[in-house]
Amino acid sequence: MVKITKLKEEEAGIFRKLLLKIFIESFSYYPLRAQKFNKRYWSVGRLTQYSHKKIILLLLAREASLPVGLLIGKYYSSGKSSILWLGVLITHRGKGIGAKLVKHWEEWAKAKGVHTFRTSTADFQNEKFYSKLGFTKSPGFEMDDWGMKKMVFIKKEYHG
Ligand SMILES: CC(C)(COP(=O)(O)OP(=O)(O)OC[C@H]1O[C@@H](n2cnc3c(N)ncnc32)[C@H](O)[C@@H]1OP(=O)(O)O)[C@@H](O)C(=O)NCCC(=O)NCCS
Repeated sequence: MVKITKLKEEEAGIFRKLLLKIFIESFSYYPLRAQKFNKRYWSVGRLTQYSHKKIILLLLAREASLPVGLLIGKYYSSGKSSILWLGVLITHRGKGIGAKLVKHWEEWAKAKGVHTFRTSTADFQNEKFYSKLGFTKSPGFEMDDWGMKKMVFIKKEYHG
């Protein structure tokens, strides 16, 4: 049984460890400096600070208390929200955990009046995942900080 909760301050170290593990497992084709950046940027201090911010959502998925997945979402005052990070351990994929994390983020964002949900990914295998969740692929690509080509997915929901 998977349990998804908002990150508590004291879980920042666990969250960081999981993020770095998923990055190494899933993004080995990224340049080493991307891994170094993640190590530096997603520090325990920053995550602890972010766990108190209303515009940032840090979600941790646990299965039988083992941390197996995470999501970092951001709210923009213009009614938009983005996923900054999403990942599930390879050993735990295909069990609905990624979809659950995305749904939790959408609920959190909807409660803030968000109408446009955005996410991007360098992994072409994720196209099916996002389209199953109701996202539409935008035409073209964007380049990330490491020069990797990313697909952009958008979901719009109008309230009233
Ligand atoms: C993308 C990711 C988060 C999906 O997590 P997951 O827990 O395996 O996904 P789910 O089990 O919730 O899948 C939901 C649906 O998408 C489908 N799906 C997921 N990954 C898929 C893939 N690679 N190819 C085809 N379909 C896929 C599932 O079959 C499922 O469909 P169903 O509802 O008909 O059964 C996971 O593969 C991952 O962590 N990848 C590496 C990191 C990454 O690329 N992050 C994303 C953007 S930065």
